[in-house]
Amino acid sequence: MSKRPLNVGLVGGGGGAFIVNPHQKAIFFDGTRRVTCGALHPDPQVAMSEAEKWPYPIKGYRNYDEMIEEESKKPRGEGVDYILIVTPNFVHYDPAKKALEKGIPVFCEKPLTVTSRESKDLADIVKAKNIPFCTAHTYLGHWTSRLSRHIVRSGLIGQVRWVDAYYIQGWLAGRTEDMGVMQAEWRVDPKRAGASCCGGDIGTHALMQLRYVTGLEPVRVSGFIETFVQGRQLDDHFTAYCELNNGGRALVRASQIAIGHKNDLGIEVNGDKGTLIWRQEDPECVKIHLPGQPDRVYWRGEVKANDGFLGDLPADLMAEPTIPSGHPEAFHDAFARLHRCFEADVRAYQEGTYKGTDGSKYATVDDGHAGLVFVEKVVESSKNNHAWVDVKF
Ligand SMILES: NC(=O)c1ccc[n+]([C@@H]2O[C@H](COP(=O)([O-])OP(=O)(O)OC[C@H]3O[C@@H](n4cnc5c(N)ncnc54)[C@H](O)[C@@H]3O)[C@@H](O)[C@H]2O)c1
Repeated sequence: MSKRPLNVGLVGGGGGAFIVNPHQKAIFFDGTRRVTCGALHPDPQVAMSEAEKWPYPIKGYRNYDEMIEEESKKPRGEGVDYILIVTPNFVHYDPAKKALEKGIPVFCEKPLTVTSRESKDLADIVKAKNIPFCTAHTYLGHWTSRLSRHIVRSGLIGQVRWVDAYYIQGWLAGRTEDMGVMQAEWRVDPKRAGASCCGGDIGTHALMQLRYVTGLEPVRVSGFIETFVQGRQLDDHFTAYCELNNGGRALVRASQIAIGHKNDLGIEVNGDKGTLIWRQEDPECVKIHLPGQPDRVYWRGEVKANDGFLGDLPADLMAEPTIPSGHPEAFHDAFARLHRCFEADVRAYQEGTYKGTDGSKYATVDDGHAGLVFVEKVVESSKNNHAWVDVKF
């Protein structure tokens, strides 16, 4: 018999919001999840009218306190099975904490919170309650990110020496925040975005890609937090030179003033036997360079085990649902893969069989916390004349 679809409650997402859209498509993707309710706006009246305008019927709430309170009282199957938080950074911690305290799993946008004190608090609650929590680092959901992780972590390109993890954009090259773009307004406001604009917003994605693909951690960092657009309180250019826990080096860099770049997230991993390159704007393939050999390009859907470079491939990687190669997968598929994996953990949690997540399918609350710690350390180093600062997640 088919399982009932899981019910998802939204915190944020009304009034022309951005990231709620890919999420709500991803929630619907498999037919096994649906949005059932939402507190979509900070103004209670607007929240209710935005819920009325939702493309299909959902229950509107005046605010997320009411939603969490009411939904948690309902019997299983009628209330929310998890909540999705898609508000600006300063409205992540409070709803996440309140939902977790009611035993509701949380899927939360990044950066996880505004301070590492808050993110640590969430991580502690998740650990104490053993409850599913996903930090929405989208790009882990690409099948090719999973393949990259397998290739690097199984040693196929040797010992990692040097990693360049980057996320380059150009949309804040001018004073976008003065042009009525709400997404820019709150991102450059320290009260709503946190200690860093560029680092928190997209540097954390680059860091996560590094940690996810290589399994390595920065242990020391020298940081540069820079603001090119005059009058802006927060950075629009973020550079962190890192020492890794295997003795290798990495650059985690992000920019929002590089005109022409859109969502240019990528990673290049240089090992002592070869190099791996992955780019989210070209997400259907992974490129491998080996000395003295023709370059290899691995296209999703065309990857075969034991081809002279790859050995056996993990069964769970090969079993992940994808469409035939040549029909491009991209951003929405990545989001859907995260929600699909999270759904499995939520169902296990409800059945009493959830044993925690190892971070191989989506970013955890600890990964979200790592992002906050990292950004704070880079800011500290930058203020201290770029001195090397120890990092411990
Ligand atoms: N994972 C990704 O790839 C990705 C991409 C973009 C944004 N994000 C993150 O998603 C979050 C939202 O970003 P966005 O660009 O969609 O922002 P946005 O400004 O487009 O949307 C924010 C939404 O939150 C609502 N909101 C604000 N305060 C609220 C409150 N107290 N109660 C209920 N709703 C409230 C707003 O009305 C709006 O609907 C941010 O944390 C951002 O960093 C992640």
